[in-house]
Amino acid sequence: MINNKPFLKWAGNKYRIMDRIQRLLPDGKRLIEPFVGSGAVFLNTDYDRYLLTDSNADLISLYQYLQTEGTDFIHYCKRFFNGKHNTSELYYKRREEFNKTSDLRKKAALFLYMNRHGYNGLCRYNSKGGFNVPFGRYKQPYFPAKEMLSFHAKSQQAEFRVAGFDHTITTARPGDVIYCDPPYYPLSASANFTAYSSGGFTKEQQMLLAELAEQSIRSGIPILISNHNTRFTLSVYRNATDVEKFPVRRFISCNGNKRGHAGELLALFA
Ligand SMILES: C[S@@+](CC[C@H](N)C(=O)[O-])C[C@H]1O[C@@H](n2cnc3c(N)ncnc32)[C@H](O)[C@@H]1O
Repeated sequence: MINNKPFLKWAGNKYRIMDRIQRLLPDGKRLIEPFVGSGAVFLNTDYDRYLLTDSNADLISLYQYLQTEGTDFIHYCKRFFNGKHNTSELYYKRREEFNKTSDLRKKAALFLYMNRHGYNGLCRYNSKGGFNVPFGRYKQPYFPAKEMLSFHAKSQQAEFRVAGFDHTITTARPGDVIYCDPPYYPLSASANFTAYSSGGFTKEQQMLLAELAEQSIRSGIPILISNHNTRFTLSVYRNATDVEKFPVRRFISCNGNKRGHAGELLALFA
């Protein structure tokens, strides 16, 4: 089994359930991930080629710099991980710089800096699109040099694009396999704790994704979808070929002591 950790902290990352995903993903030439996030699935599968997209342009830009520059970019990012940068004063200064700069290489490096120095590794923006996660107060943030090197090596098989999931899915061709990991459908009205870009992921978008999955199997392109196990998700995935349900242990609130079991599912359309 391949065992590569993503270099970014990412809410909802699928590293811990990779064994289940690997068992269910069909064979194919190219894996398409319309919600790539930290790339846990890309890093732990073995397809010839990958199309990796996400609506978060900051995330995709970081991947593109790492893909083309490799160690040069890793060294450049490392300068923001000297102890000097681990103060709230400098964090907020860098965050402001990130929100204003037109230097895209620096912006990509600062995105990684904030991912490791910001609160809980969250990625959250205000209504104007400004990154607004507070300082994280970690003793010594880890610089993921090893994980970035593995990502760089594997990314030579990949193409990264900024795109909405619906556009990405409609570009798929026979021979492709699609893995979809949308923002979770909330377990309760107040529990929607992920915000990867300004504007949330709506119920209508969850339904559109299920419709696109049904269309996709009619074109002979299999799709595997992850989500919470709720009455709503079971209903929208009712035409799936197979639905695997399982509990997952994880943080459910900002308070680290309150962990819990949230039911999840994997719906296969094949
Ligand atoms: C649960 S995360 C994916 C996690 C990923 N599988 C991993 O292992 O790290 C969901 C991702 O969907 C992206 N996203 C949200 N809305 C989207 C949309 N409309 N189209 C494409 N991507 C979207 C977010 O930026 C986020 O990276």
